[in-house]
Amino acid sequence: MTIVKTPISPKLPALMHGADYNPDQWLHDPAVLEEDIRLMKLAGCNVMAIGIFSWAALEPAEGEFRFEWLDQVLERFRDNGIYAWLATPSGARPAWLADSYPEVLRVGPNRVRNLYSGRHNHCPTSPAYREKVATINRKLAERYATHPAVVGWHISNEYGGECHCELCQEAFRSWLKREYGTLDALNLAWWTSFWAHTYTDWKQIDSPALHGERMVHGLNLDWRRFVTEQTVDFCKHEIDAVKWANPELPATTNMYTLETLDYRKFTPILDVISWDAYPDWHKEADNVKVAATFAFMHDMFRSMLHKPFLLMESTPSMTNWQAVSKLKKPGMHRLSSLQAIAHGSDSVQYFQWRKSRGSSEKLHGAVVDHAGHEHTRVFRDVAELGGTLAELSEIAGSPTPSQTAILFDWDNRWAVKDAKGPRNAGLHYEETVHDHHRALWQQGIPIDVIGSEYDFAPYKLIVAPMLYLCREETGRKLEAFVEGGGTLVVTYWSGIVDEHDRCHLGGFPGPLRKTLGIWAEEIDALQDHERNGVSLIAGNPLALTGLYESRELCDLIHLEGAEAIGCYTDDFYAERPALTVNNLGQGKAYYIATRLGDDFLLAFYRVVAAQAGVARVLDTELPAGVTAQLRTDGSSDFVFLMNFGNEATEVSLDGRSYVDLESGEAISAVVPLPVNGIRILKRDAASPR
Ligand code: GLA
Ligand code: ZN
Repeated sequence: MTIVKTPISPKLPALMHGADYNPDQWLHDPAVLEEDIRLMKLAGCNVMAIGIFSWAALEPAEGEFRFEWLDQVLERFRDNGIYAWLATPSGARPAWLADSYPEVLRVGPNRVRNLYSGRHNHCPTSPAYREKVATINRKLAERYATHPAVVGWHISNEYGGECHCELCQEAFRSWLKREYGTLDALNLAWWTSFWAHTYTDWKQIDSPALHGERMVHGLNLDWRRFVTEQTVDFCKHEIDAVKWANPELPATTNMYTLETLDYRKFTPILDVISWDAYPDWHKEADNVKVAATFAFMHDMFRSMLHKPFLLMESTPSMTNWQAVSKLKKPGMHRLSSLQAIAHGSDSVQYFQWRKSRGSSEKLHGAVVDHAGHEHTRVFRDVAELGGTLAELSEIAGSPTPSQTAILFDWDNRWAVKDAKGPRNAGLHYEETVHDHHRALWQQGIPIDVIGSEYDFAPYKLIVAPMLYLCREETGRKLEAFVEGGGTLVVTYWSGIVDEHDRCHLGGFPGPLRKTLGIWAEEIDALQDHERNGVSLIAGNPLALTGLYESRELCDLIHLEGAEAIGCYTDDFYAERPALTVNNLGQGKAYYIATRLGDDFLLAFYRVVAAQAGVARVLDTELPAGVTAQLRTDGSSDFVFLMNFGNEATEVSLDGRSYVDLESGEAISAVVPLPVNGIRILKRDAASPR
């Protein structure tokens, strides 16, 4: 594989460090800007995201623009070596706008239009909103697109949610017409003969609602797809309105949650992926699960463009919206921030630079506290990290090549959660995906998180937990992947429905049946307290032994070419296969028929990854709670050793020569890692093992 370094901005080919900055909250006190510049330099900050919620300051009345304050901020930035991600302000609109054009306000699923309020609640279809957004965006671009301090566009803020207004309903119907052509095709795809739901006119179709239609799964799925496409279209509209002035200036939009939008669909219109990560550290006995969950998210966002991304927001101390907003314990600020770098981020940016004085986020963590000076624990942690990022700057632009991928599709996630049965008490889809990811992460294996539409060729191992919604095409791609020598792992509750959420006929797991060499005839659901078990068959090809506890779902499968590796221990299906492998072409396809715990997954992936030829970052066993991640520029590897456990430990290296990137010290045997410890080592990428 060829390694290509891709720095995010030629203007700032280093690791970026900074925060969301809202100078428009302090225009009445000009001393604040000067003090902020002093503090930014002191904290080693080289970038700020500005203008995110500045529409009222930029256009205080319709058609009246005030840019002088922003001119001044950007000038001070330029004079001081600070760069800006300049935002388009569509995330929150001025009161005058909603007053004059009420259609810009979002309508909820209950068909009630919001009053002017909050943010992130505009209609993505409204022509009036699109026009006003295009106007302010074009003005910003005209003035700043070639400004030396501007590194790129921060388009809007955390797109999400949905609007059910009449304009959106009409747009949805047009989208459906384009997708299906005829009502007959739509009726068949949505299986509307069920409950006499056959539509005879497009106007009868409405978005899902609590007091309306909720049970037509094909409709639910298509509504989600439409909402995504409408939001992507809105985002593109915003990007077009800024890019005309300087097509070279990169555009990103900060993503945040898995809930409403399939963020992968934004990929074609963005130059850089960015996301906002708020890990809830210290909520459990150790931080391993939280760390692995956020590792998964970093992996997913990085995999969208397969190049470095931006950590656009994180909190320098605490949030004010988690159930319990804990402070970061000593060392955690550095560890949490550098974890993002380890997984491919080229920045550590915060929400927020300076605490606002009033309104709902006045108590959210910030680099600069209400105390107003640098003599705080948080400021010291941030400034120290600024120094570290400067020392690590040679990492910027380096990719994270992975030979392993986890398949995670948004439409599968939507469909699996929408399904009724077999276990409405909890299928735990995401938890299951994270369990598989974590078992690989704990062994220091770099992982991409990909969608079914991605190219599978770069991978040796693909893991598809609960691939409930599986298109025929995905089945064919996975079959070709295995035949060509790949190793595939699939679990129970896969290959059940197609892209319209209709069950596959002819036996589950539908399009994966041949590849896996099994037929899943029935699935048993266990009560929360019930357990079954899997006993490994003597002499199995993985050389696994013993007994593992299983829970939640048990597929009752028949072998159709696959070999059993493990069998159920209990119930009327005791001794029937629960873990199988099918040899197909040059590759292997494993089927895990029931939900197994961390002990099994760790043991299983240890053998499977090794047999698949997947390289670990370090060719050595890692202690519990520790992971190793890798970035490489092709001549040097950057190895991140991170301890998320609650005990100090040490990592034995694998015999290669390493240098600590921060201290320059040579290391070859053992690296001590305190609690919340992280070390970044450099080795020759070409040196033999
Ligand atoms: C989000 C938003 C920010 C801020 C933070 C608080 O990520 O983008 O504007 O509200 O949450 O954590
Ligand atoms: Zn709308």
